[in-house]
Amino acid sequence: MISTPDEPQAPSSLRKSKLRVELRAVRAKTLRLLEQTPERFLKLRVHDFYSPIGWHFGHIGMTEEAWTLCNALGRPPVNCALSFLFANLPENPKDDRVHLPSREQIIAYLAQTRRASLAALNCADLSSKLPLLADGYAWEFALQHECQHLETIAELLQLICKQEGVSTDFPAQQEFDPPAATQMMRLAGGTFRMGSNWRHGYDNEKCEHNVEVSPFSLDRLPVTASQWVQFIDRDGYNREELWSAAGWEWRTREGASCPEYWVRHGNGYAYFSAVGLRAIQPNEPVSSVSWFEADAYARWIGKRLPTEAEWEFAAAWDANTKGMRRYPWGGAAPSPGQANFGLNNWHALPAGLRNSGSSSLGLLDMAGNVWEWTASPFVPYPGFEAFPYDGYSKEHMDGAHFVCRGGSWATAAPILRCSFRNWYVPTYRQGFLGVRCAL
Ligand code: AVJ
Ligand code: FE
Repeated sequence: MISTPDEPQAPSSLRKSKLRVELRAVRAKTLRLLEQTPERFLKLRVHDFYSPIGWHFGHIGMTEEAWTLCNALGRPPVNCALSFLFANLPENPKDDRVHLPSREQIIAYLAQTRRASLAALNCADLSSKLPLLADGYAWEFALQHECQHLETIAELLQLICKQEGVSTDFPAQQEFDPPAATQMMRLAGGTFRMGSNWRHGYDNEKCEHNVEVSPFSLDRLPVTASQWVQFIDRDGYNREELWSAAGWEWRTREGASCPEYWVRHGNGYAYFSAVGLRAIQPNEPVSSVSWFEADAYARWIGKRLPTEAEWEFAAAWDANTKGMRRYPWGGAAPSPGQANFGLNNWHALPAGLRNSGSSSLGLLDMAGNVWEWTASPFVPYPGFEAFPYDGYSKEHMDGAHFVCRGGSWATAAPILRCSFRNWYVPTYRQGFLGVRCAL
């Protein structure tokens, strides 16, 4: 277990009340989502990659109880059958996860497991040295894990909207004005502390370590939809020389000719958002592109994807203190004026609109709106130790996944920090995934 001796523990009672407040805030979002999801959608197995939405809701409760009540305190789960049903285990294949309890029963299970978790918190000794108990790690893990599955649920709603053709009426698309080139910021680079020593960070972002980046330039904003239309119109999807060998193979196999959720509409495009068909907004960042598409776009525009280190430096370096910030704007918790996050909107907003969330080096949208693919495979940092289980990060550090950074409109505040690493295979494009180019 990685220890962080330099970081003092909060007094137990204060820490416990903070955890209760944070758990309640995220749970309000979860329950609102669950209540708004049509019963029929809860059991749909829309995609091989995903379990049904109803399973994700149950999995949130199961995971919270498993780490807090069971693993931290050694007590049995409240419902063994549901613990198995909602576990992400090979013995429980996704095809079996369609046999789900009703919405009311899932709500009851979430309440039951939450009660068990809070009762465990009440009597837990957070000054313990045991890694799951120390400063309430297990509860913090449950909180961040719930945030991650909320985003997965939003992804699933978008998949369902596409599959079901959920439509809303809007006028046919006007032709866009040609997009302006994105301003690039010139960054001096240097040596900085990458990663985080935060006690409650994920295993994959620990520990802080020195990294040096050479001078480079980075787009001030993520690539927009109208810029992506140009890429399509200038034949970007059909020019093999723009694609990596594996990327071209994927593009050919899939017949990809635009982002995952785009469809022709009038003279332009519309897209299936998580709340139904919507006009493409020219200044919104492009979303739902694979790493292969991001890589090809960057080559087309004469640039490249940033490395993960460049991205983190650009997002978190504080030019005044010469240290790293937790969020692009500093240490304060995210607010809606600084970033589009936490399902406060049901889609991305025009790139750079949240301009009070600028990083010290002048980059916008480094938190929220869309995740940004990096050139870097998901590999361990020096001294990495898997915790609390190998399946969280370690099993995915296999060279087959690429890191994306920054969070999306669906990423909740507890996981919006600059050091947070997300990862997917390069063919994956069902997430809220966009691009920002470097040079
Ligand atoms: C990091 C988003 C790929 O959804 O599989 C959720 C996060 N890990 N429960 C995933 C995760 C365990 C993970 N991703
Ligand atoms: Fe999970």
